[in-house]
Amino acid sequence: MAKGDKDKVQFPHRHLLGIEGLSPEEISILLDRSESYVEQNRRTDKTTLLLHGRTIINLFFEDSTRTRTSFELAGKRLGGDIINMSVATSSVKKGETLMDTAMTLNAMHPDVLVVRHPHSGAVKLLSEKVNCAVINAGDGAHEHPTQALLDALTIRRRRGALSGLLVAICGDIRHSRVARSNIHLLNTMGARVRLIAPKSLIPAAVERLGVEVFHNMADGIRDCDIVMMLRLQRERMSGNFLPSIREYFHFFGLDYEKLSHAKEDALIMHPGPMNRGVEIDTDVADDVGRSVIREQVEMGVAVRMAVLALLALNPEYGGKVDG
Ligand code: NCD
Repeated sequence: MAKGDKDKVQFPHRHLLGIEGLSPEEISILLDRSESYVEQNRRTDKTTLLLHGRTIINLFFEDSTRTRTSFELAGKRLGGDIINMSVATSSVKKGETLMDTAMTLNAMHPDVLVVRHPHSGAVKLLSEKVNCAVINAGDGAHEHPTQALLDALTIRRRRGALSGLLVAICGDIRHSRVARSNIHLLNTMGARVRLIAPKSLIPAAVERLGVEVFHNMADGIRDCDIVMMLRLQRERMSGNFLPSIREYFHFFGLDYEKLSHAKEDALIMHPGPMNRGVEIDTDVADDVGRSVIREQVEMGVAVRMAVLALLALNPEYGGKVDG
């Protein structure tokens, strides 16, 4: 690779805190790099030494199965030392404890901190206090950038490009950091986004983000290329957002009847964990011809490898340029 090319492929940020503000070129750098790891993850011998000697700490103030495991595997596959710190939400005394934990970990000289926190903005705050790269693994209802990137990689591999696609994001948009990161990414890459949800689950003034809002599944899904379902995040709901789960499924749960309004070859996506029979019918979720839900999980590891590599080896911040 010529020197100029190498300079071009580096990611020009210290942290990955969100998708908002990234350019199409920067998103493409992340997706192209991720693509190079898909093959590595399918080999029998999956481990390289790219991040040998680097320390990555997973710091999760909220429960997680796939995101935490995915980052852990990603770090190990690149030969880095990765450890998990789970902090029970109940013991977190917000602000103060977060900063204390950050300063303690910072003193151990990690190269990357991967942080999930129940409050929007907490991960950014933490990134301002430490000397290492920080990756947002989900902050409240704000952003979940690696989820949007893995969704984009899944779509790009299936459809060739994101530009020009019509994407429906359906369900609990109000509480969803996945929706927010996806709206930013898809708009930036030239896709069109529709949001479909009951009025109570749509955030105020969301049209400002450049989306179309629907309250009826048949209308919203019509002619879509991608149907992305979201989990009903009952743990974030205080008060009555819905009359009943049964009614919710009737009007907003994805079944074959509602799906029939989308393009014939529309892909079905879900970030997981799924509530079968709540936001998605179980047969639709498992439809091997249409559902790419398992592929999303696979792409998650590749995306997290790319983000870890680009941030940990960023020459702007003292990282060694490699690969
Ligand atoms: C999402 C999250 O945590 O925001 N899950 C995930 O990361 N796979 C979505 C959700 O919890 O519903």
